[in-house]
Parts: sequence; structure tokens; C-alpha cells
Amino acid sequence: DKAGHRHFMAKEIAEQPEVIGDTIRHYLPSGDDMVNLPGDGVDFTKVQRLTMVACGTAYYACLTAKYWFEQIARLPVEVDVASEFRYREPPITEGTLALFVSQSGETADTLAALRYCRDKADQIVSVINVPESSIARESDLALPILAGVEIGVASTKAFTCQLTVLLMLAIKAAADRGELDPETMADHVAALRGLPAILNVALDQNDTIKAAAQRLSEARDVLFLGRGQMYPLALEGALKLKEISYIHAEAYASGELKHGPIALIDKHMPVVVMAPRDTLFDKTVSNMQEVMARRGKVMLISDDRGISEASEGVWETIRMPHIHTTLAPILYAIPAQLLAYHTAVAKGTDVDQPRNLAKSVTVE
Ligand code: M6R
Repeated sequence: DKAGHRHFMAKEIAEQPEVIGDTIRHYLPSGDDMVNLPGDGVDFTKVQRLTMVACGTAYYACLTAKYWFEQIARLPVEVDVASEFRYREPPITEGTLALFVSQSGETADTLAALRYCRDKADQIVSVINVPESSIARESDLALPILAGVEIGVASTKAFTCQLTVLLMLAIKAAADRGELDPETMADHVAALRGLPAILNVALDQNDTIKAAAQRLSEARDVLFLGRGQMYPLALEGALKLKEISYIHAEAYASGELKHGPIALIDKHMPVVVMAPRDTLFDKTVSNMQEVMARRGKVMLISDDRGISEASEGVWETIRMPHIHTTLAPILYAIPAQLLAYHTAVAKGTDVDQPRNLAKSVTVE
């Protein structure tokens, strides 16, 4: 049932404020400022290092979470794609928490990586959408993301729910490790509780994004840029676009542009820049100017302040509401998804069932 939407993907994008609200309330029941984990939970005072493994969109959720675990909890983190991890035979040192992220819980590569960690890691934790799945069953602790059934092959609500759970886990890690004073903790929790309402404001930008996607659908290649915690989101935006619209898209950390990819820029190349007005913004703006100086077409996704400071010469702008910096990747996932969705619709591709792809990849 598409609940009045043309595609499951559109329905699943629209459901995000609601399901993310459910996820937050599950781990942070009202009146409580402490993140609650099921069962025996995780004692982060004993964790020295976090190894995160996943595939595709779930991998990008892990890459984003690396910024949170490092910055908020000061915990060393390593992230890898499951299909590489196991064959590298990485040494798993004492005090390692191995964390696997998977919507389906049946991805063969991720499951194999989990099995590699068994008897090596101190604790195996998974972040999953399907509680009865193999990955959930084979973990010491399974953390549900409560996204509900996701049908569209392109993962949307599962991604933002994964991010939400991972952020709450990072907050828990920070609290356990004494890295979070009560005030900052309360600040993070309040920001999380306010998130669903802000996501609704982003969804209201649907028509603007649809118009921007119309222009994007004429491109042959698209570049996505982001800095810091927005870099993994640029990767996710590029993956979404290629998956369903079949337009070649690549993502770079904004600062890497000058080390090669800038050679690709000409008047035919749209460059989507994901940049809330944060401490890295000025740097991103100078990268954007390098693009425009070579006649590249910049699509700037930012907030009021960012757009008023940096929209000169820009091809398209997409306005996001202001948000607590830490939560920006969750919010900016929405324009990334809508942009891919409307571009695919404009091109007439099969949005929910893109060619060559399956919802769950159970072969290695
Ligand atoms: O079920 P999983 O989260 O383990 O799946 C991982 C990837 O196959 C998945 O995220 C894939 O990249 C999606 N099609 C992305 O939209």
C-alpha cells in the first residue's frame, strides 16, 4: 500500500518524521535524558575501539557515525565495507566493540564479516531493521531502528533511522566515558526530540526540489560535495542518484576537489554542495567558488544564513531549516533523497525496482 503516493520510495521518504520520532522515543522515553538500550546494553567504559562494518547506504550511515563517536565520545573508530573487511583479515584487539549495520539483516557480506568477528571482538552489536534476521540473531545485542518495512530498493527511511540510532549510541558512549557534561547531554537530547518537526519543514521543500531535479535530470554526470560529517552524506546522495536515475554521480570531500576531480568541471557539470552554515562553511564556499570559476553549475543545499552569505552566482539553491549541527546529516538526507527521487521520475525510470538491483543482497 503506497498510501496515496506514486511510489513506495516517496511514501518512505514522507514517513521519516514519524518513524524517526518512534525511534527516538524508543531509546529516549519521555522524561528520560539517558539513552536506554535493550538487554544488558553496552558498557562503553570497557570499549577501547569501535569497528563498524556494513554495505552500501548502511556503510554511509557508519561513516557519518564515525564523526559522532570520535567527536562526541572521543572513541577511536574504524569503518569498512563488509566485502573488504573480512578478506583483509584485520586484527581485532582487546576492547573492540564490533558494530554491524544492516536494514535487512540478511546481507551476505555483512553477515560474513560478523562471523569473522565472533570470538575475536569483546561484543558484537548490530543495528538492524528486521529483528528476526540472521544478523540480529547472531549478535550479542541487536538494536532495532524501527523504520517499519522498507520496500523501495533505494534505502531512505532506514538510512535516517540508522543514523538516529547511531547518534543515540554515540551519546550513550560519551556519557559512559565521562565525555559529556549534563548540559551538553540535555542539549543533544532536546535537539533529537525536536528533530521530527524540523524534518517536516524539509519535506515542505518538495516542490522546489522537484524543480531543481528537473534541471538535474538533463545532466550526464553529477558531482556531490560535502565536508566533515556532510561528506558521507554527499556519498549517499550520489549513490541514491545513480541507483535510481542511472545518472553517473560521484562524491568527494570538498577539500579533495583540487586534488583531481576539479579537472572534470565544465559548464555541463552540476555540483551539488551539501553545506549547512557551520564552522566549515567558509572553506566549502571557497571550494564552490573554484567550481563556479570553471563554469560548473552549483546547486547549494544550505540554511538561511548559508544561502544569504553564499548564493551569488549559484545555479540552484535548496533551503533547509536551521538545525543543531550534529543532526545536520539526518536533515540533509531528505533533500538528497528527494533530489534523486524526482530526477528518476523525470527520467521515467523504475524508481522502486531499479534495474540490476535487489532489495537484499544475499550473495557475496
Ligand atoms: O540490508 P542492508 O542494509 O544490509 O543493505 C545494504 C546495501 O545493500 C543497501 O544499503 C543498498 O546499498 C541500497 N540499495 C542503497 O539504497
